[in-house]
Amino acid sequence: MEYSERLKRLPVQFFATLVNKVNKAIDEGRDIINLGQGNPDQPTPEHIIKALQTAAEDPKNHKYSPFRGINELKEAAAAFYLREYGVEINPKSEVAILFGTKAGLAELPMCLLNKGDLMLLPDPGYPDYLSGTVLADVRYETFPLKAENEFLPDFSVIPKEQRETAKLMYLNYPNNPTGATADRAFFEKTVVFAKENRITILHDFAYGAIGFEGKKPISFLEIEGAKEIGVEMYTLSKTYNMAGWRVGFAIGNPVIIEGLNLIQDHLYCSLFPGIQMAAAAALTEDQTCVDELVTRYERRRNTFIKACRQIGWDVCAPAGSFFAWIPVPEHFTSEEFADYLLEKADVAVAAGKGFGEFGEGYVRVGLLVDEDRLVEAVERIGQLGLFQSYA
Ligand SMILES: Cc1ncc(COP(=O)(O)O)c(C=O)c1O
Repeated sequence: MEYSERLKRLPVQFFATLVNKVNKAIDEGRDIINLGQGNPDQPTPEHIIKALQTAAEDPKNHKYSPFRGINELKEAAAAFYLREYGVEINPKSEVAILFGTKAGLAELPMCLLNKGDLMLLPDPGYPDYLSGTVLADVRYETFPLKAENEFLPDFSVIPKEQRETAKLMYLNYPNNPTGATADRAFFEKTVVFAKENRITILHDFAYGAIGFEGKKPISFLEIEGAKEIGVEMYTLSKTYNMAGWRVGFAIGNPVIIEGLNLIQDHLYCSLFPGIQMAAAAALTEDQTCVDELVTRYERRRNTFIKACRQIGWDVCAPAGSFFAWIPVPEHFTSEEFADYLLEKADVAVAAGKGFGEFGEGYVRVGLLVDEDRLVEAVERIGQLGLFQSYA
């Protein structure tokens, strides 16, 4: 039996190799500090779990439930956007419930593009964006995110032919992997660019809650005209430590939302209502847990950066997300450096090349272990003698 051409063309998961190497090292009994992944380490807050438990006991939730999700969650998403970003949303027509935003990101090209159409993706970028291009049989080109532009795209360097033919562009701020954030002026430019070139924008707001130094990341939908040309995707995975629950939503342009709902009518039959009720509780109830989470990540960030600078590793502090994006020392490729740290320091990091060509020269560190382990990781790296210590 043979797989379809489509399946065969699916991108090889670059990080599967890293996971295998890390697991092998752990099996050998080594004490690996794993900073290579993006999996939140804290538990889901108690009140959200309680909401699931209550909903799970209600027999009405044991049946097939509305295909397009329950009203409570759509209304909660709309209330959340109004409260957090001052954005007015019609819960009936402007919210689509997703089985995690990974699913929505893969579905969107199938909703909006025809075979061979062009979409534009960030480089470096979240590797799973590529899955949707293959499933929809479309072409993609990448645009670079460079340190000199604070990891924001420079729309003026996108070739004319690409600007004129592309139908869809993905953006993501706070950014995985660079930790960069976008300001209002950038999103305003994005709306102008999208309108001029008739390109639909998907803004992936996965790390929307995580901004440091009191700077709350802004939603793309706050910009006038954004809803005319795009949607945002919001996941509960990071904000509420619900990565295992698989729940998120797309929000914004009603035509796109209808497209996502339509494709999901054919793929699934509604996310378990208990999870949707718990997600609604997360979005609308007490947000202290989110403040605590951001404080925790900021403390880790500060501790990590300080430790890096002490060993002489020149590292920029990320403005948002839970990642640090760090240049590798001279004479190493990103993959060689990641392998070296795993072998010599028992520290796992993600090689930048896995996020695209412009990720070469960097490694991504996930701030997803406690501060003492972060310090220990940096101390182990310091002992390799690669940097000129300031201490
Ligand atoms: C940039 C980005 N977008 C989307 C996702 C997917 O999140 P989920 O499928 O859990 O909603 C992730 C997960 O790591 C991510 O880093």
